[in-house]
Amino acid sequence: MAGLINRWRERLPVSAQTPVITLHEGNTPLVLAPRLAKRAGLGPEAVWLKIEGANPTGSFKDRGMTMAVSKAVEAGAKGVLCASTGNTAASAAAYAARAGLRCVVLLPEGAVALGKLAQALAHGAETVMVKGNFDDALRLAREGAGGTWALVNSVNPYRLEGQKTASFEVVEALGRAPDYHFLPVGNAGNITAYWRGYKEFDVERGSGRPRMMGWQAAGAAPFILGRPVAKPNTKATAIRIGNPASWDLAITAREESRGEIGAVTDKAIFEAYGLLAREDGVFCEPSSAASAAGLLAFAKKGGFKKASADLKVVLTLTGNGLKDPDSAKTLKSRIRTCSADAAAFKRLLAKT
Ligand code: F0G
Repeated sequence: MAGLINRWRERLPVSAQTPVITLHEGNTPLVLAPRLAKRAGLGPEAVWLKIEGANPTGSFKDRGMTMAVSKAVEAGAKGVLCASTGNTAASAAAYAARAGLRCVVLLPEGAVALGKLAQALAHGAETVMVKGNFDDALRLAREGAGGTWALVNSVNPYRLEGQKTASFEVVEALGRAPDYHFLPVGNAGNITAYWRGYKEFDVERGSGRPRMMGWQAAGAAPFILGRPVAKPNTKATAIRIGNPASWDLAITAREESRGEIGAVTDKAIFEAYGLLAREDGVFCEPSSAASAAGLLAFAKKGGFKKASADLKVVLTLTGNGLKDPDSAKTLKSRIRTCSADAAAFKRLLAKT
């Protein structure tokens, strides 16, 4: 059955009365990344990419949004409200359209990738540019919520319930939990949700638990500093967040799983972004590549020294590269021009 509520209904807080608002999210590919694995000094079957950009609106947010919007409709909400660095807004806009609800999105002015803004507008979301950063926008969203307005940021408990299903899919695909799970960290909802999903399956099935490896951008790394960052700054705009809402839950995920939360520079993030696209054929958005940059940094410092032969590492690539065409333009690429003439084209082909 399509959509993750139907697929995982017995593990989610829904009943037969809950209306299912779905765009057939979830069930995303888990793809080997042999070239990235090689760069990390690992075997060709060690590193797997969970391609969340294959969700209906192009990011992992759809997993949480099918739950949050379905529950909002069940509760009689007339509209949904969120702050967003872009992907949550795109997803909320689509699911609200599907449900026939109003949708208001609060975006940090000038810091949202073009494709995400296009999605919010296309789906008819009432779009508000906030003169401030994401943390300011979330504060406003929290204040506006209540009454017939449902807040659909990841502080909404149904969001994390939906997002935990990604772990179920990973375990089903690999036959067990991986040894390590790398993912970017912004507001820290997703690391929390994955950990919850892995624990839930382990308790019931003995499928094991990974070390949760979260990565922030160095200019927006409150977990590394141990305190909120007033002016977060990174070109990976999706994770440009200084005061993560799920702070305590993410720390718990890190400690319980004996994992790490680290930081990677924008330079390392953009390098990994290019490598994933060029060498393994997967185009994700820059923030998603923080997971790959984190993998390479962890490998470089000798993190995998005592790794077993059947080591399994999963990286979540949280969003689709098409969302951020401006970032794609920063990758080293060559465009040549050619007259509309076969001989000229053959000469061009002959040159490297
Ligand atoms: N990757 C992408 C592509 C994201 O859009 C986000 C968060 C994250 C990673 C971080 O996930 O917040 O659960 O730690 N985007 C939110 C948004 C904040 O508004 O779209 P997190």
